[in-house]
Amino acid sequence: PIKVTKICCIGAGYVGGPTCAVIALRCPHITVTIVDLNQDRVDAWNSEDFKLPIYEPGLEDVVRQARGRNLFFSTDVDKGIKEADLIFVSVNTPTKKTGVGAGFGADLHYVELATRRIAAVADSSKIVVEKSTVPCRTAESMRTILEANSKNHCRFDILSNPEFLAEGTAISDLFKPDRVLIGSLQTEEGLEACRALADVYANWVPQERILTVGLWSSELSKLAANAMLAQRISSINALSAICEATGANIDEVAHAVGCDSRVGPKFLKASVGFGGSCFQKDILNLVYLSESLHLPEVAAYWRQVVEMNEYQKRRFSKRVVDTLFNTITGKRIAVLGFAFKADTGDTRESASITLIRDFVAERANVHVYDPKVEEEQIWMDLTEAMPQLPAETIKKQVTLCSSALEACKDAEAVVIATEWKEFTLIDWETVYANMKKPAFVFDGRLLVDAKKLKEIGFKVTVIGRGNGL
Ligand code: NAD
Ligand code: UDX
Repeated sequence: PIKVTKICCIGAGYVGGPTCAVIALRCPHITVTIVDLNQDRVDAWNSEDFKLPIYEPGLEDVVRQARGRNLFFSTDVDKGIKEADLIFVSVNTPTKKTGVGAGFGADLHYVELATRRIAAVADSSKIVVEKSTVPCRTAESMRTILEANSKNHCRFDILSNPEFLAEGTAISDLFKPDRVLIGSLQTEEGLEACRALADVYANWVPQERILTVGLWSSELSKLAANAMLAQRISSINALSAICEATGANIDEVAHAVGCDSRVGPKFLKASVGFGGSCFQKDILNLVYLSESLHLPEVAAYWRQVVEMNEYQKRRFSKRVVDTLFNTITGKRIAVLGFAFKADTGDTRESASITLIRDFVAERANVHVYDPKVEEEQIWMDLTEAMPQLPAETIKKQVTLCSSALEACKDAEAVVIATEWKEFTLIDWETVYANMKKPAFVFDGRLLVDAKKLKEIGFKVTVIGRGNGL
């Protein structure tokens, strides 16, 4: 049997970094090297004061324990590849922006570059593991590239091992995964490579949680899992629109529905819309796959999950404008939260970006506060979201604040866009005293105690509840 002693991970991002840091922590006998082309990122991973490139609760602790022991970060991709017996490919696979499949299909350029690099420099046999989320049958393309360029009769066994961690809980998800999924060809060599990777996880994951399946099932399961999770949010958000129109309360409906053990309570929280780098991208990927397989009804079904999410964001910003007497021009609006969810500094596809874009389009003055997102990141996201506006115009209309209280000062309305725990601890009496009247609160995350806020004097609007609450 193959025994893995050296692992290389190509891509030191949100997935490669935490995943392989945890492998290093749990497998002290394995040397893990995480490589990336981005020098700044690698420097941050190596920084003496542990200013890591991503914020993730518990991550710093893991890196402190393993870094320099059996965990290394480097920009020397070739050396990492050469020395490893197992290589994770954990590079980004964003939605294509141009060309065939633009706006839907996955851009596999980075996966292909990494694969070609492996073929070009490997001088011994390797297990190559697809960690990135990829369309079904990408492993086959990887194998074709590797085999066509193999030197010295190197063997390459390709595995699919999609990652199910969620940001904000990555470390606990990795310590105690619901399951680890490994896909391989059902040949003798494929199964042996699969066992080798399963043995790595077996150092801390119970055997019954390590699922081994065929390559294509594994690839598709990742897209399917994200599509079904996002589908639940779009379903509950669709119902939230009915609640707002009827006086039903979405929290009560979600609870009643989720109590059915066949449905379960998780991922039924109505919101201003899901964000993150995965849900939309992976569903669009599934839509594209369905279309290319000539399954238009299947494509339309999944596409609706994303459309419902767009509708939810649009509906929310319209409700803000409608409630503020149909105009927010020149009005100060506080937006609390810029990350796509709590406990992360990640802003990819954050609903907050869409809301601020809509408010700026209405010529409001937006005051933004987020506990973790870097200022530079906010400016980058906003300029990208409003390419038609010069950066100075955006900076004139948007102000970044260093606390929730500061953002809310003199505002006409407070909009809660991210469910940061600290927003549950806001001193609303003080906020109220410092706001223009009538003072409005729009809760896009079902976070505040609406009754209490109303008692203070606020006009409160909550997602999934009618205007009378
Ligand atoms: P990321 O952008 O944070 O990290 C990818 C890294 O790969 C970047 O640092 C980039 O510089 C590096 N890279 C790209 N091409 C390279 C090359 N040829 N050689 C060396 N380094 C290279 O992306 P991420 O969020 O970590 O996502 C990676 C993959 O994992 C994606 O396919 C994504 O869909 C999937 N995924 C992400 C999450 C998540 O929560 N972010 C969860 C599950 C799966
Ligand atoms: C998701 C998947 O959960 C994870 O398994 C996969 O590996 C990557 O994609 P992530 O995007 O990091 O993880 O976070 P997640 O917790 O799924 O939240 C995604 C978005 O949905 C966030 O904007 C979140 O606020 C929103 N959400 C989540 C809701 O609006 N309601 C919910 O009930 C749950």
